[in-house]
Amino acid sequence: MKIGASAIEKWYFRGKAESNRFFAVNRTDLTLEPGKVTVLTGRSGSGKTTVMNIMSGLLTPDGGKVLADGKDLYAQDDRALSEFRNMHFGMIPQGADVLPHLTVMENILLPQGICGRRNPKGTDPAGKAQKLLECMGTGQLADVRAGELSGGERRRVCVARALAGIPDVIFADEPTSDLDDENMQIVLQMLKGAAEAGAAVLIVSHDSEALDYADVRLRMNSGVPESI
Ligand SMILES: Nc1ncnc2c1ncn2[C@@H]1O[C@H](COP(=O)(O)OP(=O)(O)O)[C@@H](O)[C@H]1O
Ligand SMILES: [Mg+2]
Repeated sequence: MKIGASAIEKWYFRGKAESNRFFAVNRTDLTLEPGKVTVLTGRSGSGKTTVMNIMSGLLTPDGGKVLADGKDLYAQDDRALSEFRNMHFGMIPQGADVLPHLTVMENILLPQGICGRRNPKGTDPAGKAQKLLECMGTGQLADVRAGELSGGERRRVCVARALAGIPDVIFADEPTSDLDDENMQIVLQMLKGAAEAGAAVLIVSHDSEALDYADVRLRMNSGVPESI
């Protein structure tokens, strides 16, 4: 699936005066192509997460549009947008959010349980999830409650959750933070593998290592992504 953002913008106010309006994202065009890894790097606060949230249907832009295979994401009502996201998108959120009282496996399978998400390739979802965990050295964690995990373990659960449903588009926000070098390379390789299997992948990262895995390299600079 192709995701195209055109002239998206998002502004916030700092302080009280109208003149304190600043653009977190400033009239940005960005296209994510199937089969390609796009890496968006840049300093903290440069607008990377805001771009990703707009492109993934989580944050309504103040201007511009996001088209998913030609369909206007934000022209749908909230329920349709949620179902569409669940069906097509895999997310690795910056905060590595998990539901603490559910087990690792329950967390990973949750998106597929909601809205009766199909399993596109007809494979066994729990088996696929277990394989993903094993690839990242976390196979023994399947039955552990997610609230008991370290930050790096939670991050890898989020990676498995995003990839398990074989989504058309993967949005990964700082997927390698809290990871050691070896696991960082493993996770980046898994995201690259998902692209090679046909997904459109956006990785937002302040780690320059991610650039080694990119087909398209961008640096966010004051709300505008520039090619590097
Ligand atoms: N909900 C919000 N309210 C006000 N300012 C925000 C909000 N979200 C983000 N910002 C600001 O927008 C800018 C870009 O944020 P973000 O996209 O999270 O940056 P990055 O991911 O590159 O670190 C930052 O200056 C941040 O403080
Ligand atoms: Mg961010």
